[in-house]
Parts: sequence; C-alpha cells; structure tokens
Amino acid sequence: MKAIEIRNKYLNFFQAHGHKVIPSAPLIPENDPSVLFTTAGMQPLVPYLLGEKHPEGTRITDYQKCVRTNDIDEVGDNRHLTYFEMLGNWSLGDYFKEEAIEMSYEFLTKELRIDPSKLSVTCFAGDGDAPRDMVAAEAWKKAGIPEDRIYFYGKDNNWWIAGEEGPCGPDTEMFLDTGKPACSPNCGPDCDCGKYVEIWNNVFMEYYKSKDGSISKLKQQNVDTGLGLERMAMLLQGKETPFDIELFVPVMEKLKELAKVDDIESRRIVTEHLRSSMMITADGGRPSNIDRGYVLRRLIRRMTRHLNKLQIDLNELSNLIDLYVETLKELYPELVEKKEIIKEVIVTEKDKFVKTLANGEREFNKVVEKAKRENKTIIDGYTIFKLYETYGFPPEVTSDLAKEQGFEIEMVEFDKLFKEHQEKSRLGSEQKFKGGLAEQNEQTTKYHTATHLLNAALKEVISKDIHQKGSNITTERMRFDFSCDHKLTDEEKQKVEDLVNEWIKQDLPVTIQTMKKEDAVQSGAECMFIEKYPDEVTVYTIGTVSKEICGGPHVTHTGELGHFSIKKEEASSAGVRRIKAVLSD
Ligand code: ALA
Repeated sequence: MKAIEIRNKYLNFFQAHGHKVIPSAPLIPENDPSVLFTTAGMQPLVPYLLGEKHPEGTRITDYQKCVRTNDIDEVGDNRHLTYFEMLGNWSLGDYFKEEAIEMSYEFLTKELRIDPSKLSVTCFAGDGDAPRDMVAAEAWKKAGIPEDRIYFYGKDNNWWIAGEEGPCGPDTEMFLDTGKPACSPNCGPDCDCGKYVEIWNNVFMEYYKSKDGSISKLKQQNVDTGLGLERMAMLLQGKETPFDIELFVPVMEKLKELAKVDDIESRRIVTEHLRSSMMITADGGRPSNIDRGYVLRRLIRRMTRHLNKLQIDLNELSNLIDLYVETLKELYPELVEKKEIIKEVIVTEKDKFVKTLANGEREFNKVVEKAKRENKTIIDGYTIFKLYETYGFPPEVTSDLAKEQGFEIEMVEFDKLFKEHQEKSRLGSEQKFKGGLAEQNEQTTKYHTATHLLNAALKEVISKDIHQKGSNITTERMRFDFSCDHKLTDEEKQKVEDLVNEWIKQDLPVTIQTMKKEDAVQSGAECMFIEKYPDEVTVYTIGTVSKEICGGPHVTHTGELGHFSIKKEEASSAGVRRIKAVLSD
C-alpha cells in the first residue's frame, strides 16, 4: 500500500468514527521559541489537551509534518529519518483507553489488513505516578490480543511526554513482528534487534508534568496517538528500509545513476536530508548559524558533502529537487507552489558551502601538517573551533576529515567553545527578533518604542496577564503577538489605541539603564525569554508606563512617534492574538 493510500485510509477511518480532519500545522512552530521544530502531532494541540475548546470539537484527526533532529548523525543507516509524517487521532476529553484501543485494532487489522497474529502490544507497568495499566491490557485482550503478547514496561518504554514539561501519561504501543528469529529468550518489543518494529503509539494523556518534576492530573482525559507513515508504508510493502518505498525510490535511483561511486549510505543521506531541507524550507525555514536555521544549514551541508562523496555534479541539485517535487506532490502539494524558493534557498546555501569547504580544507591541511610535524595524534578542540569560527569550516567536516587522516579529535572542548559561541549569536538574534529589526532606521526605531507602549496599553486596558509572544517590524508597520484568550472588542481596541496616543502626547522620556538580570526582573522589567539573556542586560523605561529588558534602539521621547493606529486584530494561534498597527505623522 502506498503512503498516500495509508494516509487517506487513516483520515477516512477516523472521520467515519466522528473525528474532524484538521490540516497539518507548519514544521516551524508559531509563537513557540522553546522548540526548534514540530516533533509530534500533539505539539500544536497542547492548549486543547489542557482544556481549551477546539473549534472542531473533541475528536480530531490529522497528518502532521514532523522533524526530529537528535539523530541526524544516524541518518544513513537503514532506518533513521529526520523528517517524517505522523498520522494521529485525538480525543480531547472525549473517548479514553477502551475506545482508542478498539479503533486502533480495527484500523490495523481491518483497514490495513495486518495479520493479528503478528501484533504485540506494550502497556505501562505502573509506578508511584500512575497505576499498572490493566484497563489498556484488558481492552487489548477484548480486542483479540492474547495475554502472552501483552507486555508491561516502565516509564522508559511506556510513558510519553514531549520534552521536560507538559501533558503526559502512560502509553500503549503496538508492534509488528517481522518474523525474524528472536535474538534471545528475553527478546520482546523492548529489544531493538529488529524482530519487533513499533508501528503506533496511543498516549493516554491525563497528567501534567511541571518544571519541578511533580505530576498532577489534567482537567480532562485525552488520547494522543502517533503512527509513522513512512515506517508503516515500508512494513506493508514488505521492504527492509524506508528508502525502498515510493517516496524515496526515484531519488535513490537517480543518485545511483549519477554517482561514480557506489555508496548506499551516502545515497540515503542525500535522499533523506534533501527531503527534510525541502520540507523545512517550504514551511519558511532559512539557513543561519543558530537554532533551527543551523539545523537546516547542517542538513544542506551534509547532503552536499555526500553528493561530493558520490562524485555527483553539484549542478544536478536543481534537477533532484524537481524530481522530488514530482515524487511528493500528491502528499505535499505545497512543494509545487514553493518549488522556486526551495531551489533558490537550497542551491544558494550549497554554493556558499562549496566556497567554505575550499577555504577550510586548505586551512585544515595546514593543521594536519603541523600536527604531523609535532607527532600529535589528536586534533584539539580549540583548533576545531578556530576552523569553524574563522573559516566557517563545520566541525562535522573537520571530524570526518581528521578521521580519514588517522587523527582522533577532541570534541569536549570544542563543544564547550561552540556552545558559548552559539549562546552569543542567539542573544544577538533574539534581541533583533524581539524588535524584528531586519533593517534599522528612524522609522523602525519609532515602531520599536511603539511596541513597548502597545504592550503596556494592552496590560492596562485588558489584563495584567497579557504577555508578548512575538514581534515583527518593517518600515511600514509593526506586528505584535500577545497571549490573550479572546478577540478584542471594538471598544477594547479603541481604548488601547487611545491610551497609546495619550502616552505619545505626554511626550514621555525613554531612558536606558544597564543592570544585573536579577535586578531587572526584581524591578518588574518585562521580557520574553528571561533565561536566554546574559547576566548584564539593558532596560528601557518609558515614563512610568513601561519597563522592558530590550536591546533597543528607541526614540528618546514618545512625542516623536506621531499618531498610532491599529489596523488589524486577529488570531495568530491558539491563545495568541496579533495586532498590526501603523504610525503616521
Ligand atoms: N505523541 C506520541 C508520539 O509521538 C503519539 O509517539
């Protein structure tokens, strides 16, 4: 069964069981600076798992584009992917364990026609936080799974949470027995010898884990499920690796035809990273030196290196993108629309990297000669960092080349220096992001100050609990995202606008102070990501109405701003509203 058929069957099945189909959220989470990419279908739905009403009701189904990057370096083996699609169904305080399990079993055995004798399941064994999940186990038995194929494991296997904090709970996972012989008498679904392959996860989210580690009950009992599309297609098609399914085969084969070297690992890396890069770029990601931009940069660089390794002419990249768009367009029509920008971004980044490689390699060779002269066998972290900082030579390339030349590398020191460096650039860019200061001129400076006034006015008029969630400024307008549980009424908008204009008329002084971060917080200064600021911060104060930690710049008196008007107020995402406003003379 092709991937598109599996997706359609899934959505149709859950639709027939009362679920509303919602579109995939973008790969780049909106208004959530805490994660780089959407890593699971539940992420965009968190507010609804916590109890907010979803406009489509209590039963939802979707396909979600996901990127998980913790295993980038594993890609090239026979299973790891950085981009994948997750099919999911949700109960938002609606059905719970029994019904979820019944539907999962029916879908697997009736719709996908998986032989029930090949299914095994795992349930939570219980601990101080939650009891042994006999409800799930009983439901599986009732559905048709015999007791000897129901396994119980602890939190390591059967508890799901995204990150450190948030909605969570015990899960039950479904496994397909591939028919390979058991590796030992103890071999079971928790063994990664390859006999058992996980195909679906049902999470029973009725708990919330707080930052301090404590677990409490949520207002409602939810179900969050995730079924990996590529893996399911691979299994149903009887293939050994996801690279053998129709979503990858055309590109894998084209690479084989173009390559002068036979290297399946490199072909997989190019195939995998190119698809991820295209999906991220299509959703607005752009290469840079920090955070998600750096992930995209690494993906494109690694792909380029392996194209080189395969001795494929790098000018083929554009044709490969064309081929991929053709291959994936049924699943992701947005790729057709975004094809030109995808090409531009990926090819430009590749070109940049080719230059970097040429310069860096010369310097790297010098390092190697010196090390040889000095009879060293290790390339130290400082040298790796210098190659990165001065020549942009990526550490993973240094590492590969060093190994090829028989050197060991010392990454601990490098990692430390690199982290410090990233932290510095992150701060720089966040301060920019806060004001969205893509270009800096008199007009954007005014908008920057108006942003602080708007933030203060919203708190004053609507609620002290309003917080800034994002901001973007151009010479033409400002955009401001803030937490708020309702659409502003015309009256509220008018009041906010009037208050900002009142403060402008008062020609309040804008002053700047440098102080210790704790003191700034103590004094009541606002900011978006406190933990990410350095120990010394700058605080801008406007009269007695606003105080924010901010990189600036600002006008010296509010009278310079002119007239403020709100042009639009709309939803930005769940619980977040967006205001667009302009200043005029
Ligand atoms: N959120 C669950 C997972 O990602 C379904 O496995």
